[in-house]
Amino acid sequence: MEIIRIPRIVQDTCKKHRMKGRSVGLVPTMGALHEGHLSLIRRSRMENDITVVSIFVNPLQFGPSEDLARYPRDIEGDSSKISSLETDILFLPDDALMYSPGFATSVEVAGIFEKLCGRFRPGHFRGVATVVAKLLNIVYPTRAYFGQKDYQQTVVIRRMVKDLNLDPEVVICPTIREHDGLAMSSRNAYLGPEERLAATAIYRSLTRGAEAVLQGERSARRIREMVEEGLRAEKLIDRIEYAAAVDPVTLDDVEEIGREILLAAAVRIGNTRLIDNLLVNV
Ligand code: PAF
Repeated sequence: MEIIRIPRIVQDTCKKHRMKGRSVGLVPTMGALHEGHLSLIRRSRMENDITVVSIFVNPLQFGPSEDLARYPRDIEGDSSKISSLETDILFLPDDALMYSPGFATSVEVAGIFEKLCGRFRPGHFRGVATVVAKLLNIVYPTRAYFGQKDYQQTVVIRRMVKDLNLDPEVVICPTIREHDGLAMSSRNAYLGPEERLAATAIYRSLTRGAEAVLQGERSARRIREMVEEGLRAEKLIDRIEYAAAVDPVTLDDVEEIGREILLAAAVRIGNTRLIDNLLVNV
């Protein structure tokens, strides 16, 4: 596995691969890799000649009071996981190489930014869209891989890729869960044992909502209330940012559930913010 820190070198290397007719898969990450990330890498390895994994804790997507400084970092552990999956290139830029002095450009995906997580994390999706646009321009992949756990992020990226005529196919892969249903997330590492147990309420509540939809409930309001009730019952959940039943494409609230509904929740347990979602096909 080649470890490359300089964007220009990654750009030249990947361009050469593409010019020789090789497909390139990109798995963008912020490190602290778990089985969810590894599933994206495996999928990219299956579908492409060359797989590039990027690790970059992107300061642009963290708010001033968020966890940028304490975000888990484990470059050594990460690189051994990545190389054991026979990744071809690990792209490991630092802040100064990604954002040179005078950096002034950002990518705005109007409308989607203000919904769900966007209401609680102003600027977050602008930071995500901007860094992903940069990574797509640097790696110029045939396919780029993202997890469904960050559902709103996938909507933002798909919209941006379409609107800006970017090249790659955006591949969304299923959420990987712990044995008790908790969605894998680098932020799970922040949870103490009791908090970790409490966090299972998120998946349980979403599943309860999904089951009610599948059993015929068509009122999105009742499903929202049901999910919220499940979350409220867990004493260690300090704050429910949202419990939503929305259109999976627009992320707008719906009244009556049609063919497909996205159930999504964001909560705080102590200082840790956790999100999860289930896409329900009726
Ligand atoms: O999902 C993430 O880890 C990040 O938001 C991403 C896509 C790597 C951009 O920094």
